[in-house]
Parts: sequence; C-alpha cells; structure tokens
Amino acid sequence: MKNIQIAIDGPAGAGKSTVAKIAAEKLQYTYIDTGAMYRALTLKALRTETNLDAEMAITELLRQTTIELVPSEQGQRVLLDGEDVSEEIRFPNISSNVSKVAAHAAMREIMVDRQHEMASRGGVVMDGRDIGTAVLPQAELKVFMSATVEERARRRFEDNNNRGIASSIEKLQEEIALRDKLDSEREASPLVQAEDAIYLDTTSLTIDEAANAILKLANERMA
Ligand code: DC
Repeated sequence: MKNIQIAIDGPAGAGKSTVAKIAAEKLQYTYIDTGAMYRALTLKALRTETNLDAEMAITELLRQTTIELVPSEQGQRVLLDGEDVSEEIRFPNISSNVSKVAAHAAMREIMVDRQHEMASRGGVVMDGRDIGTAVLPQAELKVFMSATVEERARRRFEDNNNRGIASSIEKLQEEIALRDKLDSEREASPLVQAEDAIYLDTTSLTIDEAANAILKLANERMA
C-alpha cells in the first residue's frame, strides 16, 4: 500500500488532535500537530515580552527559534529551543493569545516551510487550520472535522479537568467562539474547508468512531 498524506482541519475542540494521533498510530504514520507549533511560538513571545501584534518581531522571533515535535511513550512532546513545553503550551494564557500570533502572514510562511519539511518523510497525518488549503494542498485525503460550540466547550472542559486545570464551561464556550471567529476571519490562511475536503461532524461521535471514519477513508485512498 502506498504512503499518503492526510490533512485534518477544523476549529478548536473538534477532536482533531486526538483522532489524528490514533489514525497515525494505526497507520504507523508520522503525526504532526501544527497547532502545537503556533502555541510554542506564542509561549516564547510571551516569555520574551514580544509584542504579539508586531508581525516583523514575531517573524524574526520564529527565525531564532527551534520547535521540534518528538514522539515519545507519553505521546508527542513539543520542544521549544530544546526545552519540553508540552504541558505549558496548553495553559489558558496560551490558548487565549495564540490566534493573535497565528494571524501573521510572514511568520506563517516560515511555519509552512517547516511543516513541508516535516511532511516530506513518508506517510503523514497533519492537523491544523490550513493544512488542506495551504500546507498540503496535494494531500490524498482531506478531512474537515467540526462539532457544535457547546460540545467542543464540553470536551475542552473535560480535557482541562484531566490536566488539573480549572475552567468554566461558559467561559470556554465564549473563548472557543471567539477563537473560531479570529481564525476564520483572519486574512492569512483563514480556517476554511478545502473544496475537496470531506466534512466530518463529530458532535455525536465517540473518538473511536471518528478515528474509524478517517481510517476507512484512508484505506480507500491507499488502495
Ligand atoms: O489546534 P490548536 O487549538 O492547538 O491551535 C492553536 C491555534 O493555532 C489556533 O487558534 C489557530 C492556530 N493554528 C493555525 O493558525 N494554523 C494551524 N495550521 C494550526 C493552528
């Protein structure tokens, strides 16, 4: 069977990363969480007190930064200049600031180059916002995953609980709706469904059901 590229896009909390990870494991493909790369850059910008709205400064900061996604037994680890920041990049202050950082076109060009390089090593499952439209427009399989805002907030709430982070569902719902808006309305590679992507509504699907739906489509494309 041939190795293919699988692009999974969709809004925050649609279950993309959980499902992409399972699909990648089953297929023995590389999993690339591009959101983690934007989160890592946001963390560095906050630490260095770089103005998040300054496109040139954020772009220059990325040039001086290494971000690695390293597989490990506890899942994919995110290394920022060699430091493991896998937990820290999920904190609420990163979630609420990442859309600002991710909006800069010049910075995104560099991120996309790095993502191309990572995807060039065989079978890959990549998740994000612009994978099917900008990063891997040639991907053999493109899936656009979504779910209602209420359901996505409920999932983030549970996620946070499991990580020991206190949150409120109402506040998460507001944050997710705002992030959807910022990600969808920005000029540079906004969150839109690629024309040739398959829409997968996960509102009433379990994680396994969503992963199986993607694996079934992948098997069809590989045949
Ligand atoms: O998937 P996530 O919540 O970890 O993504 C964090 C942010 O990064 C999200 O608000 C939008 C941005 N992002 C992006 O602009 N392009 C991507 N390919 C992935 C994420």
